[in-house]
Amino acid sequence: MRRRTPWRANLATRLVVGFAIVIALGGLTAFLVAEAVGPSTFDAHLARAGLSPTSAAVVHAREAFAAASGRSLLLGLAAAAVASLAVSVFVARRIGRSLKVLSEAASRVARGEGVAVDLALNGGQEFDDLAEDFNRMARQLAQAEETRRRLTSDVAHELRTPVATLSAYLEGVEDGVRPLDASTLQVLQAATTRLARLASDLAEVMSADDGSTHLRPQDVSARALAEAAIAAAAPAFDAKSVGLGRETDRDVRFRGDPERLGQVLGNLLENALRHTQPGGAVTISWNRSLQSVSISVIDTGEGIDDEHLVRVFDRFYRVDSARDRVHGGSGIGLAIVRGIVQAHGGRVEATSAGRGHGATFTVTLPLR
Ligand SMILES: Nc1ncnc2c1ncn2[C@@H]1O[C@H](COP(=O)(O)OP(=O)(O)OP(=O)(O)O)[C@@H](O)[C@H]1O
Ligand SMILES: [Mg+2]
Repeated sequence: MRRRTPWRANLATRLVVGFAIVIALGGLTAFLVAEAVGPSTFDAHLARAGLSPTSAAVVHAREAFAAASGRSLLLGLAAAAVASLAVSVFVARRIGRSLKVLSEAASRVARGEGVAVDLALNGGQEFDDLAEDFNRMARQLAQAEETRRRLTSDVAHELRTPVATLSAYLEGVEDGVRPLDASTLQVLQAATTRLARLASDLAEVMSADDGSTHLRPQDVSARALAEAAIAAAAPAFDAKSVGLGRETDRDVRFRGDPERLGQVLGNLLENALRHTQPGGAVTISWNRSLQSVSISVIDTGEGIDDEHLVRVFDRFYRVDSARDRVHGGSGIGLAIVRGIVQAHGGRVEATSAGRGHGATFTVTLPLR
């Protein structure tokens, strides 16, 4: 509820009163100046013409001058007052209306209806700027609110499965319908591991999302990055009989955080391995253009349909939720990848010729 201070006049009234005071002061000043200057100038002129100041004609002329100048001053001032009051009412109304629109829009944003706000104010450049800043603020608030809402529901959704598993198994053990044997312990263990992983992934994706990913940029070599990532992933690739190698030889050097970029390649390789059948192959290649370097992870695996290509970078998004969840993924890896790449001022894209035709993830980073 808005607090009102009833004894205070609104802005339009105050502006009009302010204008009226200025007009009154102007009128008074004009009157005093005319009083001080008019009669003496009149007398001086008559004296120069050789007329006696006490003669009846001069006395009469002086009275006529005073009456004429007084009346014309009064009429002139009255006309000026009416005109300026009209202008001031117009200006005050206009400003008042713009402020009212602004205040109503602010209330709407405060009530969480910010998405629909697209404010336009009358009143010149300053009001245009104000409206633009206001709209930008409303959009950002709406976006933050949307992120918060989605994150909360995503997290709740992700927590549900392991928690349901834990409680079902624990209940079963408690009721004596399920033995507390190795296989039960394994299920309980898996569910808690999943919860723990979710917690750490969440912390990471939050910092990647709000741009607070802390980078320690230094001179890095694309070849060294690729070789380190390949060495780290090689055992898992060997175990699944998926080939892994690099396609490019010529090095490209640029500025970046080697640890974070290693994490990016690690996530992309982990995905590529997960979605490539034994006998397939994954390669890393890189390419330098005038202003940027792009590093690609190319697999010959199951590929991604067009409709999912953009969405795979969303938090918790999995193309095939049921199956991908069994793989142990939270659907967070690519959101983290995107956060880190954006923190470097770069972008990441997925391409695929469709299901069964492999996928390519390309990270493009500015050279400087
Ligand atoms: N190389 C790929 N080939 C086919 N589909 C992929 C590939 N990489 C990612 N995807 C799809 O994109 C989804 C999102 O990937 P992401 O890495 O964000 O999550 P995840 O791998 O399922 O889980 P996490 O990375 O958190 O362990 C995956 O679930 C998968 O469906
Ligand atoms: Mg992943």
